[in-house]
Amino acid sequence: MGDMTDDVRTVEWAGDGLRLLDQTVLPGRVEHVVVRDVEGLVDAIRRLVVRGAPALGVAGAFGVAIAMLQAEREGWDDAARGAAIARVREARPTAVNLAAGVDRAAALVGKGVDAVVAEAQAVLDEDVRGNRAIGAFGADWITARTPDRPLRILTHCNAGALATAGWGTALGVVRELHGRGRVEKVYADETRPLLQGARLTAWELVRAGIPCLVQADGAAPSTVLRGLVDVAVIGADRIAANGDTANKIGSVGVALACAAVGIPLVVAAPWSTVDLALASGDRIPIEERDPDEVLAWGGTRTAPGGAEGFNPAFDVTPARLVTALVTETGVLEVAKGETPGRAART
Ligand code: MRU
Repeated sequence: MGDMTDDVRTVEWAGDGLRLLDQTVLPGRVEHVVVRDVEGLVDAIRRLVVRGAPALGVAGAFGVAIAMLQAEREGWDDAARGAAIARVREARPTAVNLAAGVDRAAALVGKGVDAVVAEAQAVLDEDVRGNRAIGAFGADWITARTPDRPLRILTHCNAGALATAGWGTALGVVRELHGRGRVEKVYADETRPLLQGARLTAWELVRAGIPCLVQADGAAPSTVLRGLVDVAVIGADRIAANGDTANKIGSVGVALACAAVGIPLVVAAPWSTVDLALASGDRIPIEERDPDEVLAWGGTRTAPGGAEGFNPAFDVTPARLVTALVTETGVLEVAKGETPGRAART
């Protein structure tokens, strides 16, 4: 089956820098930028040129190589290079993959830039392989627990090829189901305020030939309660040991609606998104972004002067609402007590 991941490279090493597909201008324009210094990479991460937990992990790992090359060019000492690596690591707080990707590559700094680039490339390659496995495990699990007909699936934000090194996590499951002839349609929540669903998920689904309906975030719980959805599949930015799951703001409403009608809420994410150091989700740092993202639209202020903005980028779905967590190693039925922490101990 031909698919868009054959020709979309979200993150790619360009020899002396990182080539990024600029996700801020999709779907109107397909453009790439090459970042060759730490400031450029941190800016690209903060503006969501590159985004999505697994893609951030890959970008972070290559970011260590960028810091090393810049240190050589500009004559930095080890402390300055370390501070630059830390800036990449801390560019966004919620997706644990970013820090994990940086740490994995940074462990090899002493071996030279080629070793660091090779490690970052391994992070990228493992992500693509892992996504394929997530897709297969997720499709098997969903097929066994849903009606025997093409499914109506809801997803929130973008957990597709664009959010990863290729194929996707939640959308990887959708692609796999589609390949098996098991997708009727996908409701793609628009995902305010930056429209990752309307702009990016819809772009991926259209390119893959998967029927897609973009709906306002506020419509999602009602669509579920009206019985129009068989299963919801979302990604994750960080999963605590008990299964509490941080994902794009609005995910909790989807999860509550799924629990209310008794359909599965499936979280699809690589094991690298699990943070066993955190016992529960109340410890997950939630990024708060510029209030202007909700007070204005397209550069024009929509809220009246005097109104303030509140712009948390993520929410935390309690483990009891997570029916299943699909990783590249298999499926945990979290709401039934199969938590990542317990799985890691056994
Ligand atoms: O702010 P973003 O666009 O980086 O948020 C992305 C998400 O919330 C995704 O759902 C999550 O990272 C999973 S990506 C496979």
